Amino acid sequence: MFVCSCNAYRDSQIADAARKGARTACEAYEALGNGPNCGSCLDTATEIVEQVHANRAASHSAFSNAAD
Ligand code: FES
Repeated sequence: MFVCSCNAYRDSQIADAARKGARTACEAYEALGNGPNCGSCLDTATEIVEQVHANRAASHSAFSNAAD
């Protein structure tokens, strides 16, 4: 699904950028080549980035608990 119509960024691209280290929507956009333009997509992009990091934290926590 397209999240950003200004830059034609898909949710999967934003999630990939987050998995590669982007901590914010703006960092994800910069990693993809262009920063935000109108900004109307940033709430949705922020949710995607935060979800990626929340999932990572949960999986690290599960791994840590399994190792205990
Ligand atoms: S829709 Fe993403 S910057 Fe405009």
